[in-house]
Amino acid sequence: MIRVDISKAEAIAAVPRMTDGERFAVRQKLLAHPRSEWVGLPSVYGAEYVARLETAAARLRAQCGAVVIVGAGGSSLGARTLIDALAEDGAPEAYYCGDNLSGAYLEKLLVRLRGKDFGVVVSSKSGGTLETLAALRVLYAELRARYGASAPARVLCVTGDEPSALKRFADEYSCETFDIPANVGGRYSALTPAGLLPAAVFGVNIAEVLRGAASEAEPELSEAAFRYAEARNALYKAGFGTEIFASFEPCAERLGAWWRQLFGESEGKDGQGIFPATAAFTGDLHSMGQYIQDGRRDLFETVLRFSDARSALRVPASEFDDGLSPVALRRFAELNALAEEAVLDAHAAGGVPVIRITAAEPDGRGFGAAVYFFELACAYSCLSRGIDPFDQPGVEAYKIRIKQRLDI
Ligand code: PA5
Repeated sequence: MIRVDISKAEAIAAVPRMTDGERFAVRQKLLAHPRSEWVGLPSVYGAEYVARLETAAARLRAQCGAVVIVGAGGSSLGARTLIDALAEDGAPEAYYCGDNLSGAYLEKLLVRLRGKDFGVVVSSKSGGTLETLAALRVLYAELRARYGASAPARVLCVTGDEPSALKRFADEYSCETFDIPANVGGRYSALTPAGLLPAAVFGVNIAEVLRGAASEAEPELSEAAFRYAEARNALYKAGFGTEIFASFEPCAERLGAWWRQLFGESEGKDGQGIFPATAAFTGDLHSMGQYIQDGRRDLFETVLRFSDARSALRVPASEFDDGLSPVALRRFAELNALAEEAVLDAHAAGGVPVIRITAAEPDGRGFGAAVYFFELACAYSCLSRGIDPFDQPGVEAYKIRIKQRLDI
């Protein structure tokens, strides 16, 4: 279901394959890590659990024309990826907050919610993230003002099971609450309720998402993830310090934002690590194309494509001569694929190694598989370089300073 093609990277830098013994050792390190519970989760969440998530989601959805997802980092990006790509037609309007402290942003959000019945899904593993709690205060005050005693029924909580401010909030108001397992870190939580519950509210088929991830827990996926990890590590060693995640399908744009956090936070430690950047093609070729083709030669690209983008839309015939007659009646899918070939050829010729990752269709299964694949590849990339993929000591430095200045 996931294929990795590194031919356009190998043409520029050798990508040695780890021995089976080395790969086995890395896999063992992963499974022995106390924070690797996410590896088995897609197979562990059964139909009963999915039904519980879907029931809560349907209850919220039935009351709301708009739903606000409140959370930061790993407690928001996975949900947003699934919602942006897979939300059902007719789903409530989606709004996001809890990842900034901008009063202007929150004020505008309240204006947008005027006249709309709304609800909230709030997610925080630690239950203590400042931005998330501050936004929740604002939204809960609005819910209380509008709905009085029935406000709590419009809030779903997702959090870890340690005592925390969010946990106390959920208990105090008896909000329905779902757990992020204790041993799963924020950026590896997309396939836990942190990603699945909000996705279900927007009609995403979360059983399919989990099936896509679970069916991938197989040797072929591990092989693909290792090959991607090996290519990244070889390129880094050869001096390519920036990786651009790109896709020619806009539905993968949010996945890029999620990917950036996954790799950035897992790998960027002790003065080391590939800098993760993102681009959406062909759009960003009109802004970043020059740099990618011709700027500093220390970047490589990872391009995700879906093997069967389903659209049958064709370029219409036209009496007006805009120069497009040669492509009239050809499918956009075909044009997009040809554009991708042309662009990646040009980039490779310009000295940019390209790793191509092909997932299946851009549906629940495809996204489930892609998310799980990148999580696995990230863990392999880090562990084979002796980096702990599951801590983020650097994140604390700014958090401590903000809290000191705010005296909280
Ligand atoms: O990966 C991580 O652990 C972080 O990026 C968190 O997801 C982010 O800081 C939000 O934390 P929390 O879920 O505790 O609110």
